[in-house]
Amino acid sequence: MARKRKGTGQTALITGASGGIGLELARCFAKDGYDLVLVARSGDKLQAVADSMSNQYHAQVSVMPCDLGVIGAGAELAARLGDRPIDVLVNNAGYGEAGPFAATDSKSQLGMIDLNIRALVELTHVYWPRMLKRRHGGVLNVASTAAFQPGPFMAIYYASKAFVLSFSEALWEEARGTGVHVSCLCPGATESDFHTRAGTDKVRLLRMGQMSAAKVARLGYRAFRTNRRVKVTGLRNTFMAWSVPFSPRPVVLRLVHYLQSA
Ligand SMILES: NC(=O)c1ccc[n+]([C@@H]2O[C@H](COP(=O)([O-])OP(=O)(O)OC[C@H]3O[C@@H](n4cnc5c(N)ncnc54)[C@H](OP(=O)(O)O)[C@@H]3O)[C@@H](O)[C@H]2O)c1
Repeated sequence: MARKRKGTGQTALITGASGGIGLELARCFAKDGYDLVLVARSGDKLQAVADSMSNQYHAQVSVMPCDLGVIGAGAELAARLGDRPIDVLVNNAGYGEAGPFAATDSKSQLGMIDLNIRALVELTHVYWPRMLKRRHGGVLNVASTAAFQPGPFMAIYYASKAFVLSFSEALWEEARGTGVHVSCLCPGATESDFHTRAGTDKVRLLRMGQMSAAKVARLGYRAFRTNRRVKVTGLRNTFMAWSVPFSPRPVVLRLVHYLQSA
C-alpha cells in the first residue's frame, strides 16, 4: 500500500510561485501531498508550474494570477477563495531594489513595502485566526539574511525583511501551544531572477556564491514542518546573521555597504 504523504488532504497557498524560491517551495509541498493555490502576476508561468506539479505529484492546483502589490489585493484574493480551507500560507512574493535612497524611484520603494510587508500582513490576518481556531496549519514567511541588519544602498528592502522577521517571531510566540506552526526562512544570496530585478547581479555578495533555489526551499520546508522559528540558509550565512548583534554597528554598516557594491 502506498505511504500516506504528510500533506494529504491539506492545501498550501504560496505567493510568488511562478519562479525562484516560490516555485521550489511549491514543489516541496506538492511532493509531500499538499494541494496548492499558486499566486503571482504571471498567469502563464503559474499555469506551467501548476501543470508540472499536477503531472509529477498528482497535486490539485489552483492558479490565482494577482498583483499583490496593489493595496487590498491580499484580502480580495482571500475573498475569491472564500471558505476554502488554507492549511499553510507561504508568504514568499517579494522584490528588492538597490541604489542610493535619494536616487531611487519612490513608486518602486513604496511598492516594496506594499508587497514585502503589507500583502504579507493582509494575507496572514485573514488566515491566521482560522488556523488558531482549528489548532492546525501555519505560516511560512520568506524574509532574508537582510533582515538581521540595516542595508545601506538597499535600505527599504533590508528594512522590509527586518519587519518580516520580527513579525514572524512574534507570531511564533503567540502560537505557542496551539499546534499552529510559524517559520521565518532567511535565505542568503540565492539563484533566481531576484537579482536582475533588484539590480544586484554584479555585487560582491553574489560573487561569494549563491545557493540553488531548490536547496533553499527544501531547508525552508523542513523548518516549517518542524516549527523552527527562524531558518537561515547555509553555515556562512548563519554565522554572519547571528554575529551581527555582537559586532559594532558602524562595522556592520560598512561591511554591508562593501558587500552590496560591485
Ligand atoms: N534570491 C535571493 O537572493 C533572495 C535572498 C533572500 C531572500 N529572498 C526572498 O525570497 C523571495 C522569493 O524571491 P526569489 O529569489 O524567488 O525571486 P524571484 O525569482 O524574482 O521570484 C519572485 C516571485 O514573486 C512574484 N512577484 C513579484 N512581484 C509580485 C507581485 N506584485 N504580486 C504577486 N507576485 C509577485 C514573482 O512572480 P511575477 O513576477 O509573475 O509576479 C515571482 O514568482 C522574496 O521575498 C525575496 O525577497 C531572495
